Amino acid sequence: MKKINKICCIGAGYVGGPTMSVIAYKCPGIEVTVVDINEKRIDAWNDKNLDNLPVYEPGLKEIVAETRGKNLFFSTQIDKAIDEADMIFISVNTPTKTYGKGKGQAADLKYIELCARNIAKVAKTDKIVVEKSTLPVRTAQAIKNILDNTGNHVNFEILSNPEFLAEGTAINDLLYADRILIGGDDTPSGTEAKDALAAIYGHWLPDNKILKTNIWSSELSKLVANAFLAQRISSINSISALCEKTDANVQEVSKAIGLDSRIGPKFLNASVGFGGSCFQKDILNLVYIAKTYGLNEVSDYWEQVILINDYQKRRFANNIVSSLYNTVSGKKIVFYGWAFKKDTNDTRESAAIYVADALLDEQAEIVVYDPKVSEERIYADLDYLNTRTEEENRKLVTVVKEPVEATKEAHAIAVLTEWDEFKKYDWETIYKNMLKPAFVFDGRRILDKEKLDTLGFNYYRIGEGA
Ligand code: NAD
Ligand code: UDX
Repeated sequence: MKKINKICCIGAGYVGGPTMSVIAYKCPGIEVTVVDINEKRIDAWNDKNLDNLPVYEPGLKEIVAETRGKNLFFSTQIDKAIDEADMIFISVNTPTKTYGKGKGQAADLKYIELCARNIAKVAKTDKIVVEKSTLPVRTAQAIKNILDNTGNHVNFEILSNPEFLAEGTAINDLLYADRILIGGDDTPSGTEAKDALAAIYGHWLPDNKILKTNIWSSELSKLVANAFLAQRISSINSISALCEKTDANVQEVSKAIGLDSRIGPKFLNASVGFGGSCFQKDILNLVYIAKTYGLNEVSDYWEQVILINDYQKRRFANNIVSSLYNTVSGKKIVFYGWAFKKDTNDTRESAAIYVADALLDEQAEIVVYDPKVSEERIYADLDYLNTRTEEENRKLVTVVKEPVEATKEAHAIAVLTEWDEFKKYDWETIYKNMLKPAFVFDGRRILDKEKLDTLGFNYYRIGEGA
């Protein structure tokens, strides 16, 4: 079997950084170099102060402290790292296209293509190229065409090895993965490449967790896994709307159905809507692929998952407006949380952004507190929507570091992220701080309803009648 001594990973983001850190940690005999065109990001990965790493994940800084400078390196010298590596992971971003054919749905593969062309240009020895990014099914064919037609006549073996980690639990998910999926050709060289990659994961995971498939099944499985997970959230969120009308309680319904072992209890938490960089992008991609094959019913089916998610975010914002007597103009609304989920500083596609946008349309004054998200990021998220000018966003939105202080003279609090610390606040003081009636809209169902009701709040939570 081919022995891997050096790995290069192109893309030092939320996936490349943590994944390679864990590989380096578990495989001290392999030298791992993570490269990126973004110099600022690489500098942050190399920062002496581990609190400044560009990705916040519980357990990450400890692993980086252990490996960085020994067998884990972060660099902008992309060509050098490609040249020296036996195995190259491509872990660059694959966002939804914002232009041209497939705009708003298809994955934008320009960064993937740039990587493939660069590998083809630089490689002088045989390489195993691993798709770590989430890609549309059949992308490996395009990568292979580029590598085989513009390369220096070296042999490239292409594998698909999608990543299933979730943010906020990335290190745990990597160390104790449910499964590792490796797709590749069934030729002798393809099998050898799959075995070489399996051996890397074999340093810490048992054989039965490593699943080998053909390359197309592997590429497609990643999109399907995300679609199924998101579908569960949209399913329970659609039911949350019905619960609010019928006095059923969505949590009780989740529990009741989740106890059926065929359904299972996970991913049935009703919320203000799913966010994150993956679910929406990957489902849109699936929708687009189905459509390009003429499978319109399949495409419409999966699109509903997104439509319900949009509906849920809209519904939450509308409920705030109608509860506050049909106007939030000039009213102070405090947002607890901006990240798309707890324990991450990532805000991509966070429900908070869209709820804020809807309330700003109604001229609300929003004050945001999030324990991990920077002021710069919050304004950038709003500016990116292009709904109003940068000046207007800064005039209407304030970002604060004192969550309890922020509630002075506030009309309402909206809980957008399920950070644990929100549960521990002094809610009595918060009540005293606020204008009366004091409203709390809990988009995550994390607060103690009985306590808040007793304190005098008008407490509303997703999936339960008032
Ligand atoms: P990211 O945006 O955090 O990181 C991607 C990095 O790639 C960026 O730092 C960017 O500068 C770099 N890059 C882009 N083009 C480059 C090039 N030509 N050369 C060198 N560097 C380049 O993205 P991410 O969240 O890490 O996601 C990466 C891939 O993994 C995506 O396809 C995503 O769908 C998939 N994925 C993400 C998650 C997640 O939780 N974030 C989970 C599973 C899979
Ligand atoms: C997801 C997949 O879980 C992971 O396997 C894949 O590799 C990347 O995409 P991630 O987006 O990081 O991971 O987080 P996840 O825990 O899946 O949460 C996504 C969104 O769904 C968050 O906004 C979360 O708050 C929301 N969610 C999750 C719910 O609203 N209800 C739930 O029951 C679970």
